Amino acid sequence: MLRAWTSALLSVSKNGTRLVASASRIQRVSARGMASATSSSLEEIGELHVTKGLGRLVTGMMVDGDGSYVTMDDGRHYLDFTCGIGVTGLGHCHPKVSKAAADQCLSIVHSQCSIAFHKPYLELIQRLLPIMPHKSLDSFFFWNSGSEAVEAALKMARIITGKQNIISMQGAYHGRTFGAMAVTKSKTIYSEGVHPLMPGVFTTPFPYWHHANVGPETPTKKLTEDALYQLDLLLSQQTAPENTAAIIVEPVIGEGGYVPAPVEFLQGLRAICDKHDILLIVDEVQSGFGRTSGRGKKDGFFAIQESGVRPDILVIAKGLANGFPLSGVVSRKELTDKLKPGSMGGTYAGNAVSCAAAVAVVDAMQEENVLENVKARSKQLFDFLSGLRATPAYAPFILDVRGRGLMVAMEFASSTASAHDIARKREVPAKLASKIATRCIERGMLLLTTSVYETIRFIPPLNISEEDMNKGCEIFEQALKDVVTAY
Ligand SMILES: Cc1ncc(COP(=O)(O)O)c(C=O)c1O
Repeated sequence: MLRAWTSALLSVSKNGTRLVASASRIQRVSARGMASATSSSLEEIGELHVTKGLGRLVTGMMVDGDGSYVTMDDGRHYLDFTCGIGVTGLGHCHPKVSKAAADQCLSIVHSQCSIAFHKPYLELIQRLLPIMPHKSLDSFFFWNSGSEAVEAALKMARIITGKQNIISMQGAYHGRTFGAMAVTKSKTIYSEGVHPLMPGVFTTPFPYWHHANVGPETPTKKLTEDALYQLDLLLSQQTAPENTAAIIVEPVIGEGGYVPAPVEFLQGLRAICDKHDILLIVDEVQSGFGRTSGRGKKDGFFAIQESGVRPDILVIAKGLANGFPLSGVVSRKELTDKLKPGSMGGTYAGNAVSCAAAVAVVDAMQEENVLENVKARSKQLFDFLSGLRATPAYAPFILDVRGRGLMVAMEFASSTASAHDIARKREVPAKLASKIATRCIERGMLLLTTSVYETIRFIPPLNISEEDMNKGCEIFEQALKDVVTAY
């Protein structure tokens, strides 16, 4: 079975072009379409036996992914502007990544990280060292998911500093496991019914106009000063620096609304951490791996690079292995040398197939100039969304367009927001963002919302073509028009 799967992958990649792969996929998909009776009985199993705790964007089974597109068992074909929530940056089933994984499957799949090194693990470190956002980041630990890597980062921070408390940002998302959930502050759904959470966690404001209940035109400088002042207060009123191990921040808050942290804010956090001997944990699970590239000289694979700030601990996942489960915690050897052997680990941590895929991801990103494409497509998307914002028919509904690279959001006005929210607009339709996302899906594009506000997030593949970006923009404008006109 395994060999059949891998040889299928190999034949796709050996055939060379994506076109050939696509043709064979189309045949497979239509064959699956004929077996729709089986599909519907499987779906019934899903309805009956998959936990209700899991939400789902679309009905049916996804059976095929090729570049910027996915296909469902009934033949629905979608342009994928979700990338499986910011994961498949190189598109679905990138031939080089799939081939690297398939080849690895035929040599060794599981060489447990506490039993012995394996080659892809070390090759991956070799590839990552030169692209780290700071040269001090030279000590790696790989795990499976972003949440696990956050857990590892929190644990490391406590062990290394001998201090307990952690400060996270209002609106932050770091995952659903226990420690990660405790530092997650984007929506109550993630911890509802689960309290008490891990103790020793404090929240500080993130410089986002909507949280501050001021208008989107509020100067960044003012938002930044206010947020840093509140952090100073937190350190003198609630958690003493002597008890504070780490501050954890996403350089672009994801589940909190795709809000980039101002450069001055990140620099301010670094200064506060230096002053008080607190570690700065930078969570680039979503913003990393080229997702936010495209802003100037210091630009690279990570959002933090724009600020020049040195993370003490960097957390990576998602785009790292383009869909294979892999995350990483990167720090300085000088710090990680304080960990006792055996204190870190995990049965599947740093799996060989995932590491081999990640090596291929880094190579493909460089060989195919993906960061250049991010820059060009980002401009294309921003120009388009800014154009919509300036269009009189749409302007009254749109509050903000923001983001970095291809991690971009449009925030809409809300009629159902808190009565105390100064941005509330009673005259707009309720649930604008989810209505528009639903309309996009009906028109053939997968798109997600984010945050407690009416926000649409655009996370297309990093190597998306200009033509497909245009197509996505057209679908979005049509969906927006449908929803606004219907109102
Ligand atoms: C910034 C950030 N951190 C951590 C996580 C958790 O990652 P995972 O879902 O792989 O556990 C996510 C997931 O969306 C994320 O966006």
